[in-house]
Amino acid sequence: MAFDIDMIKRVYATMGERISKAKKMTGKPLTLAEKILYTHLYDGQPTETYKRGESYVDFAPDRIACQDATAQMALLQFMQAGKAKVAVPTTVHCDHLIQAKVGATEDLQNAINTSNEVFNFLDSVSNKYGIGFWKPGAGIIHQVVLENYAFPGGMMIGTDSHTVNAGGLGMVAVGVGGADAVDVMAGMAWELKFPKLIGVKLTGELNGWSSAKDVILKVAGILTVKGGTGAIVEYFGEGAKNLSCTGKGTICNMGAEIGATTSTFGYDESMERYLRATGRAEVADLANEIKEHLTGDEEVYANPEQYFDQVIEIDLSTLAPHVNGPFTPDLATPISEMKAKAEVNGWPTKVEWGLIGSCTNSSYEDMSRAASIVEQAVAHGIKPKAEFGINPGSEQVRYTIERDGIIETFEKMGTKVFTNACGPCIGQWARTGAEKGEKNTIVHSFNRNFAKRADGNPNTHAFVTSPEMVAAIAISGDLGFNPITDTLTNEAGEPVKLNPPKGDELPTKGFDVEDPGYQAPAEDGTAVQISVAEDSKRLQLLAGFTPWDGENITGAKLLIKAQGKCTTDHISMAGPWLRFRGHLDNIADNTLIGAVNAFNGETDRVKSQLTGEYGSVPATQRAYKAAGIPTIVVGDQNYGEGSSREHAAMQPRHLGVRAVLVKSFARIHETNLKKQGMLGLTFANEADYDKIQEDDTFDFIDLKDFAPGKPLTLVAKHADGSEDTIVTNHTYNAGQIEWFKAGSALNLIKTQNNG
Ligand code: F3S
Repeated sequence: MAFDIDMIKRVYATMGERISKAKKMTGKPLTLAEKILYTHLYDGQPTETYKRGESYVDFAPDRIACQDATAQMALLQFMQAGKAKVAVPTTVHCDHLIQAKVGATEDLQNAINTSNEVFNFLDSVSNKYGIGFWKPGAGIIHQVVLENYAFPGGMMIGTDSHTVNAGGLGMVAVGVGGADAVDVMAGMAWELKFPKLIGVKLTGELNGWSSAKDVILKVAGILTVKGGTGAIVEYFGEGAKNLSCTGKGTICNMGAEIGATTSTFGYDESMERYLRATGRAEVADLANEIKEHLTGDEEVYANPEQYFDQVIEIDLSTLAPHVNGPFTPDLATPISEMKAKAEVNGWPTKVEWGLIGSCTNSSYEDMSRAASIVEQAVAHGIKPKAEFGINPGSEQVRYTIERDGIIETFEKMGTKVFTNACGPCIGQWARTGAEKGEKNTIVHSFNRNFAKRADGNPNTHAFVTSPEMVAAIAISGDLGFNPITDTLTNEAGEPVKLNPPKGDELPTKGFDVEDPGYQAPAEDGTAVQISVAEDSKRLQLLAGFTPWDGENITGAKLLIKAQGKCTTDHISMAGPWLRFRGHLDNIADNTLIGAVNAFNGETDRVKSQLTGEYGSVPATQRAYKAAGIPTIVVGDQNYGEGSSREHAAMQPRHLGVRAVLVKSFARIHETNLKKQGMLGLTFANEADYDKIQEDDTFDFIDLKDFAPGKPLTLVAKHADGSEDTIVTNHTYNAGQIEWFKAGSALNLIKTQNNG
């Protein structure tokens, strides 16, 4: 599957020198996270010490991975850059657009019937631009990355929040928005605020019913969903070495649920075993040669309080199995306390479904441990009380567990084997009866359990736990069932006590697969045609945005003055709109429909200065565009917080909005606006927000002098003939001003390529 061994050799060749420079510069030993960060600077050698949680730093990731939902707009944008090939190894994985309903074969065919144009588009773009393509059914992005591409000491980004899973193989792997991925594909730097560092010291060894999942369920309970924000979580200690590589992946995967930038583990024998078992002995040999660089320094781990911003210690020997939820992954409950807690909170204890899989827990080890529980139940004549479904993480895992009889074991319980894809984890689950909205409970081994996530029913109480606990709880049909102390009753009415799970870290007969579902790109993709149907509803090739004409923007109308929270979801709503992610004009019909109009307190109802009538934001804006009238959007504090979704900047730009003027920006959105050639401005005096009136028209007076650090001034002309001069600040540097002038960052890259 063409992991890029030459790239890994290049990374390893410079590591030692860069690490010693960084140590000299910082005057201290380094954590693993710092080693990876300092060896992946865009400008090469480390030349300054960065402040954690403060400095913005340009990095050069080694790899990129994209999933099918986010890849569409990312690749449409990349096509604008005018490059012949991606600048770093990149893969695309078709896993999010496959619904789980009947079973793998039929569901996969249905997905192909429904989304074929999207898959074909991703296939042809990948083929043309040197991107590895994983077909629908090949597996879930993060499991496939761990099996094929992740390597100790590497840095990767991916257009999915659970890209962090690759920390299980000792990477710094971060989930990003499409615009960031496009920059790196085009050879530009990736900017990240130098993270803070949280150390988790693991002692002891897991036993009985406890698993790697319980480590992160416990950490989530301690740190909560926000506790890891802006930080890399680094796991170390004897306990860490006792965990399997895929178990480490599970822990890192759910680092996304505590808001962490990413999580990672130092290189050890479990990683070496995994690399060798997955056909990458060469990588293991290379890693062994520079072992000391692929883990934190001993002094750091001996005195963690001195080197990390926060330290947590967990003893694996006494760690209890946990069940987290409902509705949030940080509500951690040891299984022994669940019965009482469910009663107090009124959570339904009857379990309807047990789901195993997702990128979080779909390794061979996970499947074999869960199967060992199912096997016992079958052997003792116990009928499961809940329904079962599994989503294998990759075709390699599926093929191997089928060969080893594990699927057969699951099927004895009537388990539905869904496609090797995200399925219920991303709401792609046609669950019978979900539309009734009844209060019910499900248990799963996924990572997220927010309301509606799995089946769209807001009353489904979803609980997250390990695959083996999913198996035990689903068989018992009782959320409060504690397999350590409780017994089940078999068909003959006899009590049965389940033994703790047993499983193999790696298949004893090795992994096997017939068709992994991978397609290598063409050596020379110049002749590859990219087909997008003219009348497609889901895909639209992008036309570059218009460059600035060099004149002050004048006569701009106010589109909306948004009040209070205006997140990227308010600007570009998700849900049903996700199907238009690859079609800018269609998805633009949701632009700002969630924003609250400051003049009437309503959403999606603004006054048109053309007609004096009130109408929806997108329709009003389209009318301004048709009339050739520029517009501006005014916003409140932290405008654009939420996700890194680039659509929130592209859509207003596409519809003809020229500037967004707010009290303050969420930084990623501000950067996204800059990349799309928009003006992102802040009130120099926040109180000026109150001066903006519904019928205002704006003239910029000094846009021709746009320069770093120099405020821009605009005049707001009110309907009564009065005027206010509004001074605005901006954070554009010289390069970003060139983006504005060129019409977008990609326009500029394209011009440079052609020039
Ligand atoms: Fe897919 Fe769920 Fe993971 S949506 S990538 S399985 S978090």
